[in-house]
Amino acid sequence: MPNPQHAILTNLAKYQWYTHLSRTEGADLDVIKKAITATRAAGSNTGVTAVVNVCFLFGPTLLADISSDLPEDFQPYPGYESPDGKVAKGTQEELLLWVHSDDKDLCWETQFNFRNAVAGHMTVARETPTFIYRNSLDLTGFIDGTGNPEPEHQYDRGIIPDGQPGAGGSFCIAQRWVHDLKYFNSLPIEGQENTFGRSKPDSTKLAVQVPTSHLKHVELREGETADEATPKRGEMVRRSTPYAFHDGTVGLYFMGFCKTQAPLRERMEAMYGHNGHERDAITDYSTPASGSYYFAPSVETLEAFA
Ligand code: HEM
Repeated sequence: MPNPQHAILTNLAKYQWYTHLSRTEGADLDVIKKAITATRAAGSNTGVTAVVNVCFLFGPTLLADISSDLPEDFQPYPGYESPDGKVAKGTQEELLLWVHSDDKDLCWETQFNFRNAVAGHMTVARETPTFIYRNSLDLTGFIDGTGNPEPEHQYDRGIIPDGQPGAGGSFCIAQRWVHDLKYFNSLPIEGQENTFGRSKPDSTKLAVQVPTSHLKHVELREGETADEATPKRGEMVRRSTPYAFHDGTVGLYFMGFCKTQAPLRERMEAMYGHNGHERDAITDYSTPASGSYYFAPSVETLEAFA
């Protein structure tokens, strides 16, 4: 059975570092492959002080050049716009290096070594260091992750099964959302809770889901969204964490995995008010500054480089 990259389903460590890159004109693919292999080897050692979890995720163009085992229906991120003009802009790149470790210095070192190894062949488009905030809180103070599949179901929900194209791999959505916390914190508690459809202290699901609640858009069911009477479908595994920049910009680095891409696209379309949905209330206080779709191939696909 093909193995997913360990960093995806293992427990998320305290610190993360996201580095997005694309190839330069005339880039040498062998240099990139060697750097990937070396970085994975560094990540599989127990670091000086802590484990370093390393995951390489590919955009459609680079994936097609490094593997012949391509997953079905892998599309680049198109960007999304609501009928009333809210925009989630698309910033698709070719490669995402995602590192997480309990030691922030090791996250930095790992991505620093990689970007030096591919210098001249890849350009860094953007990077974001993030952290787990208290008991997995979003910076609004709401618990993030409650509706994630139980750990024993995460392989089934997140990873392409044996025998299918891209087996052992996973589709990913990566976005940096920028929060307007001043606006969010000015809302009465009912307004805050209705934004997500869960209570603030303990993440209990609200009995009544208003049409703009987040769960009304993302809790996909065989019947109506968020309706407990029918089974869930298209589940995804989320690994999102907050970030805070020195200029005061704060928000959530949204990172989610699924064994097919369509449910990721369906949720984004719903959140941006398409297919009969009202726009998700999250988009009243938060806007993605970046957004890409990637594919994290199996360990075996990456080992074939070496
Ligand atoms: C600013 C951005 C976002 C924030 C702050 C946010 C926050 C939350 C919160 C607080 C919950 C409820 C607790 C939980 O289950 O984790 C939740 C649930 C969820 N969110 Fe988000 N979210 C964001 C964006 C997204 C996006 C872009 C997607 C998908 C493309 C998504 C997918 C989900 C899913 C699948 C659930 C669980 C639904 C279920 O219970 O089945 N979220 N989110």
